[in-house]
Amino acid sequence: LTVAAYLDHAAGSPIRRAAAEAYLEALAQAGNPSSVHRHGQAARRMLEEARERLAAVLDCDPPEVVLTSGGTESVNLAIAGAYRAAGPDRRALLVAEAEHAATVETVDALVAEGAEAVPLPVDDAARLDPAVLAAATACTRGRAALATFLWANNEVGTVNPVPELVAAADGVPVHVDAVAAFGAVPVGFRASGASLLSVSAHKVGGPPGIGALVVGRRARIAPLLHGGGQQRGLRSGTEPAAAALAFATAAEEAVADLAREAARLAALRDRALAGLLDGLPGTRLRGADPAAPGARLPGNLHVTVAGADGEELLLRLDAEGVSVSTGSACQAGVTAISTVLLAMGVPVAEARGALRITLGHTTTDADVDALLAALPSLRPLLAAA
Ligand SMILES: Cc1ncc(COP(=O)(O)O)c(C=O)c1O
Repeated sequence: LTVAAYLDHAAGSPIRRAAAEAYLEALAQAGNPSSVHRHGQAARRMLEEARERLAAVLDCDPPEVVLTSGGTESVNLAIAGAYRAAGPDRRALLVAEAEHAATVETVDALVAEGAEAVPLPVDDAARLDPAVLAAATACTRGRAALATFLWANNEVGTVNPVPELVAAADGVPVHVDAVAAFGAVPVGFRASGASLLSVSAHKVGGPPGIGALVVGRRARIAPLLHGGGQQRGLRSGTEPAAAALAFATAAEEAVADLAREAARLAALRDRALAGLLDGLPGTRLRGADPAAPGARLPGNLHVTVAGADGEELLLRLDAEGVSVSTGSACQAGVTAISTVLLAMGVPVAEARGALRITLGHTTTDADVDALLAALPSLRPLLAAA
């Protein structure tokens, strides 16, 4: 089967050509950045160049960039690291609802260790209101180790008002999961005011298996990995210099092109949405209004189809060569009802019919055409429901 249309960029974007070329060339370099000989020094130079370029794109200082294995590790290190470094008087974790599993599961594990999770409800678009965080901050004064929320929701694409939320945290250290937002909307560490910020390479057209946690100079986190003490002791393990260079290359390209690409993807997305609303009865857009400036990721389209089962729709589209997602994770081969949609107040019956269609740097009109052409094949699934 040749895949006619890849519309699941939120799950992972194919590597950009420039990043792949930089990666391949860099992989030929022998040497561990911690070795003192000339080969080690060359690897160190490559690593530090990558860190500087990533820092420039993320608007932080190079030593603040801690390379990890990806978004999941970054989020784990941020939340568990901040909790463990905070000391026995600060056991509360202020956690937005509608978060990614990396956050939800990390917090659950810490609760089992004695943490107190303070949930922050989101609105019907999955947006976290600064007033909600301000109220939780006031209630937990002096007891909070960390507040954590998404820059943009990975399922429904809603963008949070990050600087306003950081201000509402009123001095409580903030972690922002920017994995879905980075490369799609402007993301800057310094301007955000956050203490910690997670990003992942494979979402921006870099290689899978690498990400970063920006650890601000004043942030205190305990490491999760113990070993050679690399990266200020915060993340032991030989640094992946070649992957870091490829990540930096992809991130630079994504950010350099961001405004033009956002307009291009939004136009494609809007055409796909119009086709869905027209072609599938009972289709309803979820998440923020695409017409509201900056409120939604330009490449994100998320709908529920009344009376349908999202997984059945996905499988039928797959048979037509169109790859999309239901947005929520698979557990033992069965798609679970999206906790994001439930947090937004979507009734279970409607949440069952979720489809997430996400566009990225390789998406063209032909992909949207393939999606729209496949819609009639879904209609029997609606009638049967
Ligand atoms: C918002 C968000 N956080 C964290 C992750 C985990 O990132 P990774 O797949 O790099 O581990 C993802 C990936 O889907 C995500 O969308």
